[in-house]
Amino acid sequence: MDFSRQLIDWYVVNKRELPWRDTQNPYFIWLSEVILQQTRVKQGLPYYKSFVKNYPTVQELAAAPQDDVLKLWQGLGYYSRATNLQAAAVQIVDNDLKFPNTYKELLTLKGVGDYTAAAIASFAFNEAVAVVDGNVYRVLSRIYGIATPINVPAGVREFKELASKLLNKKDPATHNQAIMEFGAMQCMPKNPDCDTCPFQKDCVAFNEGRIAELPVKIKK
Ligand code: ADE
Repeated sequence: MDFSRQLIDWYVVNKRELPWRDTQNPYFIWLSEVILQQTRVKQGLPYYKSFVKNYPTVQELAAAPQDDVLKLWQGLGYYSRATNLQAAAVQIVDNDLKFPNTYKELLTLKGVGDYTAAAIASFAFNEAVAVVDGNVYRVLSRIYGIATPINVPAGVREFKELASKLLNKKDPATHNQAIMEFGAMQCMPKNPDCDTCPFQKDCVAFNEGRIAELPVKIKK
């Protein structure tokens, strides 16, 4: 199975038009990814637009009074995301406005973890690094029938390795957007749309009746 090819073919037909997909501006992409971390697209979209409008550059975000930033964030929750965002904006301005442009450098920004660094590196800079979020765990665990718990180190490692192996190295940005969109729009947690799924024939979970069991998460 040509996983990436089928995935991208699905994406081209089914994707939502979202403003952060029309830009390679790393600052805008970073904003969108931080907003969307614990937030659904529908809820996050107006916040993204108001941040871009109020703070169109990383300098403007860095220079803003923290109270103003928190006010704009109001309603999204997890307020440390907003304070980290601004602290990282200050880090960038202090570093002569050089926006980190590799996965490794992005990890040095406050509040930027593995997922966010991979998202910015691939979407803004086309670096071949795979994103692994909840969508990716679900899609890969089902299609490949992987029952390793996603919230233990061995599972994190196994899924990261598989995601990296499957990644389209020529177009990591589209591949990464596509796998997350596929998880959000086709391979949903509850009632995934298996009837119209392009992977139905290959999907281990579908063929073995294990959709509801995957991904596995252990209680800690
Ligand atoms: N959730 C997190 N990142 C996303 C993105 N780039 N597009 C849609 N949903 C997302």
